[in-house]
Amino acid sequence: MNIFSSIPKEPEDPIYGLQVTFKKDERKDKINLSIGVFPGHQGSSFRFNAVDSAEDILLEKLYPKDYLPIDGLPAFNEKVADLVLGEDRKEMTLSSYTAQTIGGTAALHIGAKFLLQHCTQKIYIPDPTWVNHRRLFEACGLEVISYPYEITAAGGVNIQRILTAIQSMPEGAAIVFQASCHNPTGIDPTDAEWQVLSQAIKKRKLITFFDMAYQGLGRGLHEDAFSIRLFLEEDHEMLIATSFSKNFGLYSERTGALTITCTRESVIPISSQVRKIIRSIYSSPASHGAQIVQTILNDPTLTANWQRELKHLRETLTTSRQALYNALSKKQPHKNFTALQKSIGLFALTFLPTEKVHSLRQEHGLYLCDDSRINIAAIRQELIETIANALLSP
Ligand code: LMR
Repeated sequence: MNIFSSIPKEPEDPIYGLQVTFKKDERKDKINLSIGVFPGHQGSSFRFNAVDSAEDILLEKLYPKDYLPIDGLPAFNEKVADLVLGEDRKEMTLSSYTAQTIGGTAALHIGAKFLLQHCTQKIYIPDPTWVNHRRLFEACGLEVISYPYEITAAGGVNIQRILTAIQSMPEGAAIVFQASCHNPTGIDPTDAEWQVLSQAIKKRKLITFFDMAYQGLGRGLHEDAFSIRLFLEEDHEMLIATSFSKNFGLYSERTGALTITCTRESVIPISSQVRKIIRSIYSSPASHGAQIVQTILNDPTLTANWQRELKHLRETLTTSRQALYNALSKKQPHKNFTALQKSIGLFALTFLPTEKVHSLRQEHGLYLCDDSRINIAAIRQELIETIANALLSP
């Protein structure tokens, strides 16, 4: 008997695994609407000019390759806090602490460990949500429970069902919300609904864990942080995981951050606990992505360029979404595609059953995620008819 022979094989990751299958697919007309990436030239992801300019500056500077502090680059953390919490954050009652992390995923992981060690064993996640949330939080040792995130026929979220679920959550438990551009539905609570949620969460004494992976790709940089800034104004002590994969195109640089809002006295103890967790996993983060982000955000011209490019991507998403909506509604005028039309950010659900999603892959070379999610960013104008026909095929 070999030592490792009884280790079972895990199924492939639902999103990354699909990229391998897609690459192996030899059909020339295959279309990948699965992973959340903005396509750029020749099969690679979209490159921001602002990022290229920042890299030129960094190359020139030959910035040091020393270890970063355990919680990352201070200039990056400072700018992330401004971006996430707003530049007027210093006027708020609560203070905050930000640690650079290896992508948004490590921010979620470190936040989960922090919750488990100091606050709660239970975390509530939306159903549906990003496919990695459940397994990530479970891997950290949290008990993961779903709450309903139901999309209505009018293209909104059924807030009443969330409020009812909140009533039955135990005091002190953690609840995950996506700050904007909900993955996979693309549908967020309205500003007024966030206000109601904030009150309900306060009343139930829950700890909110915001996941924000698409700031600037929904309604705008400030607008997409509305929920977080409202919760800060309303004195929520909370956790926020941020990713810069999509809004800076830094997928492979694994650049993210964990922010915790807390009383001023708690900043030092909390930061020491977060550093303890980081040190036990990867000691300190990698530098390059954070250097890029802080170079851009500390330079007004580069910041303006980046914001312009972000706006362009946002507008592209709106155009592609509307074009797909138009094509679908023209072909099947009696069907309700409002949820697609009302969605924002990269994703929308097609609500197709899994068997249909699989047959689209096999018969049409059209790759959706198993939960029927499509990446709007990957829909080029010339593909609209083909995609619409495939989605509506019997
Ligand atoms: C996605 O949801 O497609 C992306 O966030 C990639 C990932 O890590 O799953």
